[in-house]
Amino acid sequence: MKALEITPLEGKTLRVIIVEKEYSEPFWIAEPTNNYTPKNILSSRFKPSVAFCSFFEKLIDEVKPDFITEELGNRSTKEFNENNVLAQISQKAKIPFFATDVDENARGYVASLIQEKKQLRDKILKALEEMPENSAEKEYLIAYGQCLQQEIEELEHEAKFTVRESWIVMGILENARSLEKTEITCLHISSPEHVNGVKKLLESVDVDVETIQPTKKLVFTKEKTPMAEIEDLLRSMQIQVKPVIKSSSEEAPYILFFLDTDKRASPFDICMAYDAGFSVVVPYENVTTDEAKKIVQDAIFSRDPKGIKRTCFFIGGKDMEKAEEVLKVVRETMFPPFQANTIIDPAGAYTTAAAMVAKIEDAIVKAKLGNLKDKRVAVFGTGAVGRVAAILLAKLGCTVKIVSPNPDRKDGDEYASKLSALLRERYGVDVEGVFAPTPEKKVEIINDADVILCASVAGVRIITKDMLEAVKFVKVMADVNAVPPLGVEGMKLDDDMREFAPGIFGIGPLTIGRLKYKLEREILKEARRNGKGTVYNYNYAMELARKILKGELPAAKLAVTVSYPPKERK
Ligand SMILES: NC(=O)c1ccc[n+]([C@@H]2O[C@H](COP(=O)([O-])OP(=O)(O)OC[C@H]3O[C@@H](n4cnc5c(N)ncnc54)[C@H](OP(=O)(O)O)[C@@H]3O)[C@@H](O)[C@H]2O)c1
Repeated sequence: MKALEITPLEGKTLRVIIVEKEYSEPFWIAEPTNNYTPKNILSSRFKPSVAFCSFFEKLIDEVKPDFITEELGNRSTKEFNENNVLAQISQKAKIPFFATDVDENARGYVASLIQEKKQLRDKILKALEEMPENSAEKEYLIAYGQCLQQEIEELEHEAKFTVRESWIVMGILENARSLEKTEITCLHISSPEHVNGVKKLLESVDVDVETIQPTKKLVFTKEKTPMAEIEDLLRSMQIQVKPVIKSSSEEAPYILFFLDTDKRASPFDICMAYDAGFSVVVPYENVTTDEAKKIVQDAIFSRDPKGIKRTCFFIGGKDMEKAEEVLKVVRETMFPPFQANTIIDPAGAYTTAAAMVAKIEDAIVKAKLGNLKDKRVAVFGTGAVGRVAAILLAKLGCTVKIVSPNPDRKDGDEYASKLSALLRERYGVDVEGVFAPTPEKKVEIINDADVILCASVAGVRIITKDMLEAVKFVKVMADVNAVPPLGVEGMKLDDDMREFAPGIFGIGPLTIGRLKYKLEREILKEARRNGKGTVYNYNYAMELARKILKGELPAAKLAVTVSYPPKERK
């Protein structure tokens, strides 16, 4: 069986002009049971009109394509070649004309899948006829039947659109590939319902696409008289076909400019942005405030207000302070109506910190351990994750210490106190900075806190079992270091309030990582869609993380689960 594979053409440029025909070429995966009967000869004349043919002839002459393709539909290859007026026009113009459509074997395979489901559905329909009204069994069987029917319709739709359009595109690419030339033009004649799907697929492999929709209009050379003879009517009338041409560039793409202050733009964030639906992600590296200003100016003035709504800036880089400075410049450079959405998430720290704090807040309430806002919290780690966690916690009302646990640091006490001053001046929060490079100092800090967050460098153990043995009272501990050895000894990646040491409940890096992932994805999706010039920072991330944990995202909110047998209704 031929494999379906759509890959870009190497070393060639392909331009495809999709010409929308006047009707949808009849096609079905499995022949419908009731015979296909055209209801109305005017609306279901599966043949191009004289006017369309004449337009097609002119178009070929104008464009001089290298080849022409058309969907095969339900026609045999013989019928396609011999009884097809468009094939005849192409032959006359000496342009190769090919059928392109889903492979016979693939079509048979999908048809058998659908057939199996149909048989089961019919069996259910028969069983339903014999069941007493209002019984629970009947209700559940109806639900099963409805699900099956929905699956059948979805499969049929997928076969007709996703699968078939992929094969059509593969056919076009294969024909282009087989040509010696490097600059190729193809005319593809398409059913109206497949124009968009085929266009998107072709664009995904860098093909330049234009669509032409010939619109028909009647033009009368003489005034019509109400009772005119048919012959007179025809003579007084002309059919005018005018093309409506749309090129690929007409729909503004979603562009994300990724401004990274590091020397390598993060592949993690780039992949996340594409997965969130951005059409293009443009990475810039080593971005300074000066560079950021130039990039933003250059980008926004090239787009009209509609394009600005589809433009987004994402600021990354390990150094949070640098990223914040870039954000300031980016926002100052924009003015109405050129205000694009801006996300700031330096090395994923804002979403990670927000996920960690929101998760702990939620877990403490669920474990009936009071409220996070009343707790004393120690944050081990002074990188961006630790800093933002400390800011969010202090804003919540917690008593917060930010701890440098780094034994290699020579200026520990001075560094900790300077950090405390910086957090106060720039972020308006009171956080005590502490240097704790020794086990004794760490135990002292742990004993003095109710909640401990570990946000230190990856692959370094910060809190050991010995230290935990010296711990008094119940604690909640969370760690974001997923690289072995984890930051806290005894904790596991997936822990979610597991008592991993007496009286100590742990939240592991993957539990937080999963929430962080959802959070970043939702922020990117929202920033792509909303176009209101919003800034997506750690405050926004914190609010959104809370919503995700409460299941308040719109789709999740709608979910209901009912099990069989149902409880009796009162
Ligand atoms: N799940 C995710 O998606 C995700 C995203 C981002 C980050 N993370 C994780 O979050 C953690 C923090 O990341 P970050 O970027 O904020 O900070 P980072 O730069 O990875 O770590 C900074 C902290 O580690 C300390 N440190 C460095 N070397 C040390 C050593 N040998 N012994 C003890 N401490 C040492 C630093 O000490 P000083 O205080 O002296 O500078 C600082 O407090 C990392 O484990 C990272 O992998 C996870």
